[in-house]
Amino acid sequence: MESVVISLGGSIISTDGLNLAFMESFARELQKFGEGYRFGIVVGGGSLARSYISELRKYGVNDNVLDEIGINATRMNALALSTFFEDSNSKIPTTVNDAAELARIYRFTVMGGTEPGHTTDTVSTLLAERINARIMINATSVDGVYTDDPRKDSDARKIPSLTYDEAISLAIGKSIGAGPNVFMDLTALNIAKRSGIRIYVTHGTELSEYGNIIRNRKTSGSVIG
Ligand code: UTP
Repeated sequence: MESVVISLGGSIISTDGLNLAFMESFARELQKFGEGYRFGIVVGGGSLARSYISELRKYGVNDNVLDEIGINATRMNALALSTFFEDSNSKIPTTVNDAAELARIYRFTVMGGTEPGHTTDTVSTLLAERINARIMINATSVDGVYTDDPRKDSDARKIPSLTYDEAISLAIGKSIGAGPNVFMDLTALNIAKRSGIRIYVTHGTELSEYGNIIRNRKTSGSVIG
């Protein structure tokens, strides 16, 4: 049985509202994988988290509370996604420990955040480590790792493959406060490095990418590690 963890960026499932049509087709795509695979899917907060965090921050609410708000948003999104899977948990686990137990029962274990101080990227690498997944797919709204944010800098170049240390250097200096990060959480990269979990960063709405990565270890995005 191969275990695969997907960090499903909030930015692709929660934009103006919940992107339910995408959730449905995402679940249908993953259900094509047979019994030989089990999935851990960690869902981000998206616009739900962002709107609460940015408004409350204006009122001086501290980052720990803002993180808790973000975590609740990720869990709402996770519960919404779980309804599209036939064989998945209907109660969202609050720890990686509990998620690992559920992963023994269900083919699809869906969760959100765990505690303040990191993002769902870190939760994903911790879950990958725990259930012995060799790969983690970072399904985001950007189709790979770029030298800079391609939405802001037209000179930004996609980097097809990076070592863990190159990815860590690129991520250093980015915001670690509550709210959206441009690139992956540093802690996530360090965990992936210590356990040799290969990270595929790709555009999450490109459904063919899941099969390419999981079956052929190929991506049009970027590979870290
Ligand atoms: P996300 O994982 O979606 O963070 O969690 P993100 O990278 O900022 O957003 P996307 O995926 O690119 O849209 C949303 C927020 O929830 C809190 C953080 O504040 C995070 O920014 N959070 C999430 C935690 O504090 N702990 C967690 O385990 C997960």
